[in-house]
Amino acid sequence: MTNSELKYKLNSNSPVIAPSMLKCDFGNLHREIELMEDAGAQVLHWDVMDGHFVPNLSYGAMLIERVRSLTSMAFDAHLMISHPEKYIDDYIKAGCNSITIHIEAVPDPGDILKHLNQSGVIPGLAVSPETPLSAVEPYLDQAGLVLIMSVEPGFGGQSFIESSIEKIKQLKSMIPADTILSVDGGIAMDTIAETAGAGANYFVVGSAIFDQADYSTAVSELAAKARSKTASST
Ligand code: DX5
Ligand code: ZN
Repeated sequence: MTNSELKYKLNSNSPVIAPSMLKCDFGNLHREIELMEDAGAQVLHWDVMDGHFVPNLSYGAMLIERVRSLTSMAFDAHLMISHPEKYIDDYIKAGCNSITIHIEAVPDPGDILKHLNQSGVIPGLAVSPETPLSAVEPYLDQAGLVLIMSVEPGFGGQSFIESSIEKIKQLKSMIPADTILSVDGGIAMDTIAETAGAGANYFVVGSAIFDQADYSTAVSELAAKARSKTASST
């Protein structure tokens, strides 16, 4: 599937719930991936942290590449790393379908976004809570996915930052209709509807899935909550 076909599919199947694998049980990674597939997740979100751009270290392209063949779900890499230009090809080779870099790591991301697009990957651009949307504005027509961080990047399990709602609304009015609007951090049953109402259609969820006993119920209840409040129904 090409990147534009995948973008079309994700937009058509929205709300998309993208489990954040940062919160999974790594001792049983294969099983966790199977459980997400059984739960009906379309995408797995892989949080890559380098201990430099963010004060935490997670995993990299090698791990993603090793598990790529275990599932046909799309792989969404969220690179919270400095100098992503040095590593981007490793994530393309690992089989990621969308790769998101941070505007704070690359103030002029045009060349990377172009390279991702030419490599058949959905180019993503992430914005941390303190960063104004004016920083990404010049690149919005090059990004197939824009990710609003609704917590400080670096850790799962944090509380949703309420001011993200206004930011999502503002971003929604700035992007082309087919750009995926992703929200990441603190998304749970009590926050997802409001972000959907503001215009998000792609929801990265860690704790609110992996802290639950039944992943399937968690994924479908989150999707139902988001569906009840999509931007078009408000
Ligand atoms: C934070 C990551 C998130 C995070 C989500 O830096 O980008 O994907 O793991 O986890 P929750 O849903 O627990 O906030
Ligand atoms: Zn993430």
